[in-house]
Amino acid sequence: MRVTGTGHASMRIDTAAGSILCDPWVNPAYFASWFPFPDNSQLDWESLGQVDYLYVSHLHRDHFDAAHLKRYVSKQATVLLPEFPTSEMEDELRELGFTKFLKAPNEQVVELDGGLKIMIQALTSPTDGPIGDSSLWVEYDGVRLLNQNDARPTDLSTFAELGHVHAHMLQFSGAIWYPMVYELPQAAKTAFGKQKRDRQFDRTWRYIDDLKASHVFPIAGPPCFLDDELWQFNDIFGDEGNIFPDQSVFLREYAKVGGTNGVVLLPGSVAEITTDGCETTHPVPVEEFFANKVAHLEEMRERKRPIIEAEKASWRHPEVDVLGEMKRRIEPLLEESIYLAKGVGGPVRFDLVDTDASGEETVESIVVDFPGKEVRPYADEKVRYRFRTHRGLIEQLLHSGEVDWVNSLFLSCRFSAARIGQYNEFVYAFFKCLSEERLQYAEGWYDEHERAVDAEDITLGDWVVQRRCPHLKADLSRFGIVEGDQLTCQLHGWRFDLASGRCLTSVGHKIRAHRADEAPAPAPEPAS
Ligand code: FES
Repeated sequence: MRVTGTGHASMRIDTAAGSILCDPWVNPAYFASWFPFPDNSQLDWESLGQVDYLYVSHLHRDHFDAAHLKRYVSKQATVLLPEFPTSEMEDELRELGFTKFLKAPNEQVVELDGGLKIMIQALTSPTDGPIGDSSLWVEYDGVRLLNQNDARPTDLSTFAELGHVHAHMLQFSGAIWYPMVYELPQAAKTAFGKQKRDRQFDRTWRYIDDLKASHVFPIAGPPCFLDDELWQFNDIFGDEGNIFPDQSVFLREYAKVGGTNGVVLLPGSVAEITTDGCETTHPVPVEEFFANKVAHLEEMRERKRPIIEAEKASWRHPEVDVLGEMKRRIEPLLEESIYLAKGVGGPVRFDLVDTDASGEETVESIVVDFPGKEVRPYADEKVRYRFRTHRGLIEQLLHSGEVDWVNSLFLSCRFSAARIGQYNEFVYAFFKCLSEERLQYAEGWYDEHERAVDAEDITLGDWVVQRRCPHLKADLSRFGIVEGDQLTCQLHGWRFDLASGRCLTSVGHKIRAHRADEAPAPAPEPAS
């Protein structure tokens, strides 16, 4: 099996029974904030795109690059489609001209022509990607590969059960706006960033240990930030709180925990994987490439500047009545929302900053009032979350009818945020569900999730706790760490106070727990 690195989470897998192109991403994503690094725009995409199969793991724009798919990927390719709850991915790919689809039944091995086998695991909670993320397992001639991508299943047993895996591709770096955009003192940002960076690596080690593959490939990030406004997010300033460590840092950190089987793929690197080994050739030496990272980034910044400027020039739509349009689009969804609206539980404020030619700023403050179910001008009240961003970005979102503000505004990092109290996942879940179809799905998911009775308990240290994490059901016998009266679930780092059951990371999500030498508290009376 041959794997060609094509940048970020993308790779082309070649076997004698067919080729699969995964997640090709070249054009900048999220308001021209993210670019693939190392640059992959100069690969021979004309031939890379001539494949038998296309696999797109999910609809995040650094995995689903519509313009690139349209221009370069053969429309004769059969799309290997994860079993997602909505038809959005298939609809979008049909729009681009793809007509052949193989809907892979979730977690079932499918045998393709010539003995090529695949299995796709789709994750479908509202917090997984843009309503869905997935991983692809491939087997040919005894060689097995897992492209876990940036999916975060609770464990990898579904894949491990299919036999020893030879190549495990997974994410290790950050892909989020936290904590950089939060309006916090620098020292706090650094401390939170460091915690997050450590957690990312811990999670990666755990997955690697789960699968025990012969070779581990760090993929799916980090992106690079080439706009001057965002340049500081690149991990080139020796900031231990930067959440975007690159592949060379991965190798260094992996070595510290005893990892010796890491393989970095640059765009154009080729790995020949057999049951006995992995031979890799690179277009340039990997170490040397990362030693010159700053120079590569600076050169890319100059080269891509016109692209960024052209994108920026397209965002403003002063004809859009922002308040009126937000009311029209969001109020019907607030009206329908039960779980998400209750989960947010307070007003969320958007400060839209307009800067005129002289540099003078005006700010319009709009509140999305979840309890009051309306969108209205800010009325000097206390809000739970506040976002501050360029007015032009919101105009563009409304103009284009964007239904997922996470997969556009928030991942762009072109905003700042402040909040009172804990992180609230419902805020972001709501703003990625600005369509009837998505909202209904998310509401249904939370409804089922809330009702599910998870009765099994386990003992961790001095505590008896429910076996499944209240967040996304990770098995706490594997992911739970108890220190004193606090439990941390290592899958996403959420913390719980065991004495009260309170989740310390997010609103809601209470955990059931009692001391091992005490009787459990009586169950609460059901609400009438
Ligand atoms: S499953 Fe996310 S923190 Fe436990």
